Amino acid sequence: TKEAKHVLITGAAGQIGYALCPMVAGGRMLGLDQPIILHLLDIEPAKQALEGVKMELLDAAFPLLKGIITSVDADIACKDVDIAIMVGGFPRKAGMERKDVMTKNVTIYRDQASALGKHASKDVKVLVVANPANTNALILKEYAPGIAPENISCLTRLDHNRALAQVAERLGLHVVEVKNVIIWGNHSSTQYPDVNHGTAGGKPIREVVKDDAWLDGEFLTTVQQRGAAIIKARGLSSALSAASSACDHVRDWVLGTPSDGSWVSMGVVSDGSYGTPAGLVYSFPVTCADGKWKIVQGLAIDERSAEKMKATADELAEERDLAHECIAAANA
Ligand code: NAI
Repeated sequence: TKEAKHVLITGAAGQIGYALCPMVAGGRMLGLDQPIILHLLDIEPAKQALEGVKMELLDAAFPLLKGIITSVDADIACKDVDIAIMVGGFPRKAGMERKDVMTKNVTIYRDQASALGKHASKDVKVLVVANPANTNALILKEYAPGIAPENISCLTRLDHNRALAQVAERLGLHVVEVKNVIIWGNHSSTQYPDVNHGTAGGKPIREVVKDDAWLDGEFLTTVQQRGAAIIKARGLSSALSAASSACDHVRDWVLGTPSDGSWVSMGVVSDGSYGTPAGLVYSFPVTCADGKWKIVQGLAIDERSAEKMKATADELAEERDLAHECIAAANA
């Protein structure tokens, strides 16, 4: 049997945490042959709720779950972790702009970066879920110089899965029949869900859908604004779909994307591919093998797409500058 992997979930007492813990403990993330030790971090006001989550995880008697560590101290929770899923932070509430969320979150990510850098396994793989996800990941990269930049990523797989689902629903296909959509850029409403290289039932999406006005209009805004639509419907932000997509992200990163060359979207540190500013955490189409992601190269980009890809990069550059200002103000 395999040695247990230590998986950190921050914000574990929150609503995504509540959905994510059983998925990870049940083998949805690393496979049904991979024992898991969960490291659950939250903050003091959530301490009792965190203990409740631990009680339920024990009660669920997961065969793969070999241990549970709970803590409100990042230095303790980060010890020896192999995978870190960073969900902790302040969620966007109805009426809140992403920029309001920024100030609250970047200082958390600066502090947790140093805890991870000091205590996690040297080749820890980090997935940032908490918003602003790309910029939190960027701050984490800057404040954890000991972690290789390619081991730091953010979640845009939920947006990717939303795009697959919208196309599948439109065509009356099952979601697995739709492949190779792309989410470019920021996990925000400026993201660009690109179907130009995607297929449905093995044929180009545009050919099968036969409705460019929908693909260039309502489809885009539905995917871009799905988070807000869920908040409106549930009164709470997406949780089970975020947790499930986080499992998809890590699973494909660690165990590899399909051998047919189909790809997924991941927020990763840009190397300048497709004219994006190097160093930003930007969502790209990637394939994964041997625990490493690679940006899919050579896709033809039309002018309209290039504009949208630049707009979301511009927003990320602005967020980066704002994050640096927030941190400077917090340090002053
Ligand atoms: P939640 O408010 O239910 O849970 C957040 C948890 O984080 C709470 O238990 C809170 O006590 C904890 N927390 C706060 N500060 C912390 C710290 N310094 N260290 C550790 N834990 C801390 O929020 P929810 O709904 O679980 O969402 C979590 C985050 O995920 C939010 O930022 C949300 O915007 C983001 N999100 C991202 C998505 C994506 O696709 N990237 C999709 C959906 C949500």
